[in-house]
Amino acid sequence: MIEVSASVLNVDKTNANHMFYNLETAKINYFHIDVMDGKFVERNNVELMKDYALTISHMSNLGLDVHLMVKDVEEFVDEYLMLEPQILTFHVEAIDDEEKIRSLIDRIKRSGSRVGIAISPNTSIETIKKYLNYIHMILVMTVVPGKGGQTLIPETLDKVKNLKQYLEENNIDIDIEVDGGINNETAKLAIDAGANILVAGNYLISSDNKIESVKKLKE
Ligand code: DX5
Ligand code: ZN
Repeated sequence: MIEVSASVLNVDKTNANHMFYNLETAKINYFHIDVMDGKFVERNNVELMKDYALTISHMSNLGLDVHLMVKDVEEFVDEYLMLEPQILTFHVEAIDDEEKIRSLIDRIKRSGSRVGIAISPNTSIETIKKYLNYIHMILVMTVVPGKGGQTLIPETLDKVKNLKQYLEENNIDIDIEVDGGINNETAKLAIDAGANILVAGNYLISSDNKIESVKKLKE
């Protein structure tokens, strides 16, 4: 079943609550919280994303799909676990120590959240194969992490295809989330490649019929 996760990265602070309400009534499945620390990626929106995550957790029953684009993963994992996110995802590129990655996976699972590992466009699926049996989702970045409104990089869909094939060959049943440049056209390509959770930011935020737009993504 295809799920939609609305990225709140580019939601304007002045009408955020109204936008969150419209997204929720458009039948999205999750709110995608894009946390950027100014180190792993250039932009720093730590305060704003915490504010949005707290607001959403008070006003909506929908799950938080938290995407940590941060260098100091442990610090943000502890902070966001307090909000009991549905999914908590960190970038494999941020940690070069396998033991640390394994202990983070355990910490997130013990707290009851689903754990995701994100890979940027230049990162191969080889780097995460050893973790696949221990996590719930792979987030395949279809743009370079750091900002919304970018165009999907087509080669990343080949990565989704290869990953899906590997999962099927090895009987590993976990979610594949695609993130960046997803709209009614690219969503179809991503689903055909094997993705089952679609992150959409600007496509939904700029839509004046969000119910229709979410439906188009899921078709
Ligand atoms: C980019 C973020 C994405 C982005 C998606 O670093 O991880 O979630 O906000 O926004 P769109 O759908 O506009 O590309
Ligand atoms: Zn994201």
